[in-house]
Amino acid sequence: MSDEFAKDVAEGLLATPKTLPSKYFYDAAGDDLFIQIMDLPEYYLTRAEMEIFRDQTDALIQALGQVPDQPFELIELGAGDGQKTFYLLKGLLAAGYDFTYVPVDISSNVLEHLQRYLADKLPDLNIRTEQGDYFKRLKVLQETDLPRVILYLGSNLGNLTDDKSKAFMEKISRRLTAGDRLILGVDKKKSADIVLPAYNDSAGITSAFNLNLLTRINRELGGEFDLAQFRHAPEYDEENGIATSFIESTADQDIKIGTIGKTVHFGKGEKIKVEISRKYDLPIIRKIIADTPFEIETVFKDSRSYYLDIVLLRD
Ligand code: AVI
Repeated sequence: MSDEFAKDVAEGLLATPKTLPSKYFYDAAGDDLFIQIMDLPEYYLTRAEMEIFRDQTDALIQALGQVPDQPFELIELGAGDGQKTFYLLKGLLAAGYDFTYVPVDISSNVLEHLQRYLADKLPDLNIRTEQGDYFKRLKVLQETDLPRVILYLGSNLGNLTDDKSKAFMEKISRRLTAGDRLILGVDKKKSADIVLPAYNDSAGITSAFNLNLLTRINRELGGEFDLAQFRHAPEYDEENGIATSFIESTADQDIKIGTIGKTVHFGKGEKIKVEISRKYDLPIIRKIIADTPFEIETVFKDSRSYYLDIVLLRD
């Protein structure tokens, strides 16, 4: 990881404009901060999706298109703490469905925790955990001849550009067969007064989450960033529905990064683009899946219509 990290940091910070990949947010401190973000009053995404899974469980189960006595696999890409999925798993078991739950996650800690939690709460659940980066481990989708339902929740797609999203959806669809389904959870496009605070909370947790990237460069790559000379600067393009997080230099400064053997100059006000969080509507989703064999089959919304869980059928 460190070599790849060094390469990506060198490439991103020596480019104009400067960028850093958001996947590096998630070290142990970043994981912890993200858990806090999901609980923030301003960060409505997790609660909205939780509401859909809690209040519309039966309709969601119907939308999976499975029948109780025919086995299938329920594969979750980036399972995390499994809180939303819990409602679905519980409902499927209660209705007598025969399925194996396959959570895929990059963190073995997360998977161990999830496995213990589910063994305690749902002892009848069949579970097979898969550790790995789901962008690289899509082969896991083909490790069965059974029908598959894929869960890709949390608006994780939104951290990819539309071009990368298209490529990812194509890649997933190639691993599936006709009749398989994907449930895609995405944040809905809406006004800046709702979206922007979700990325600029008053407690400063999102700021700490983003600036932790500099702490990580300091620790792992011998960087000399002084965090007091940088600030979190989020923006939201309401028309296109794209929230972008930047780290902005508040001074004219040169920062040495030992491992990559470079000193990087920052002008006062210069920004590093660290993350996009795309917001969607159905026309945007249609464009993303246009060259894939997926079609939109059912759409679930929360009570405020902030969030969408879209069932895609693979033709
Ligand atoms: C993981 N991902 C969907 C989050 C989002 O909303 O884009 C990451 C995040 N970044 C800042 N707050 C939350």
